[in-house]
Amino acid sequence: MPRVLDQAIARSTRFLPRPLVHRVAKRYIAGERLEDALATVRGLAAVGCVATIDILGEHVTSREQAAATRDAYKEALARLAADGLPSGISAKPTALGLGTDPAFCLANLQELAAAAAARGRFLRVDMEESTYTSATLDLVEQLHRDHANVGAVVQARLRRSEADIERLLPDGISVRLCKGIYEEPPEIALQGFQEIRENYLRLLDRLLAAGCFVGVATHDSFLVDQALVLVRRHGIPEGRYEFQMLMGVGEPLRARLVAAGHRVRVYVPYGRDWFGYSLRRLQENPRMARQIALGLLPGKR
Ligand code: FDA
Repeated sequence: MPRVLDQAIARSTRFLPRPLVHRVAKRYIAGERLEDALATVRGLAAVGCVATIDILGEHVTSREQAAATRDAYKEALARLAADGLPSGISAKPTALGLGTDPAFCLANLQELAAAAAARGRFLRVDMEESTYTSATLDLVEQLHRDHANVGAVVQARLRRSEADIERLLPDGISVRLCKGIYEEPPEIALQGFQEIRENYLRLLDRLLAAGCFVGVATHDSFLVDQALVLVRRHGIPEGRYEFQMLMGVGEPLRARLVAAGHRVRVYVPYGRDWFGYSLRRLQENPRMARQIALGLLPGKR
């Protein structure tokens, strides 16, 4: 099936019935409860991976919701420490109030950064739509002044990212480099598959050359291989970079990296608010979206 058709189907995933989305997106999510996430992290540790836990949810509209998410993260940190599990946390600013009350969001993140630091854990501040990029980087910069265990995410898709990393580098802020999942207009974002790849490698080269700790977050085997070339070329020692992948994606590539002795961190989402995250994963996976769409057609079930 032509790629454009795949893409059209992928875009239409938001019209799919929730139970169906849940059924096919289960592989991307640990479960609804903290216990599910802890069990997943334990399983990943058994195969040589570390993790970062994400509590599902975004764009909250009330202080109560944001505070509940903050408290759930604190509980997760306490349990990770008590159980001796190798995982940090990843948090979306809009789940902690960025969209409605930026000062409250900062206070929530400060609490989480302190709670994570007390347990020797890392807090990665996820990057959302471009409307939040500047505000999110501001948050990370402010947090990093008091908490070295806080890092940023940069999206290779965005035209502004080159300038953003120049802003983060002098402070030694760790960067997770990803392609970027949110659809953005051509004025601010690269659209072509190859040009996003090229920008990814340009940014990665710059980050590694400057001695930044980079989380190479991709399942694109071409980028992974090129990243390994850059790591060697810059003589980056073990412990100054890691690969990062999403739960349920790219397991053979993940296993190859672990077997070769590289650190691989897996992003483990859990919680009740699974719909938005699941749709984004399905949109990245046109083959699966197509199978669902065909399965929905009369006579094809
Ligand atoms: P690409 O999409 O080209 O995928 C490469 C290959 O991986 C595909 O050919 C396919 O085989 C496989 N694959 C990818 N996605 C799949 C899926 N859902 N199901 C099945 N197979 C799949 N984005 C963002 O905007 N803000 C953020 O904070 C983060 N955080 C983040 C953390 C981590 C640990 C990762 C790995 C990724 C993110 N992302 C993100 C998402 C990222 O921007 C990007 O959308 C995805 O990683 C997919 O891009 P790839 O680089 O994997 O390439």
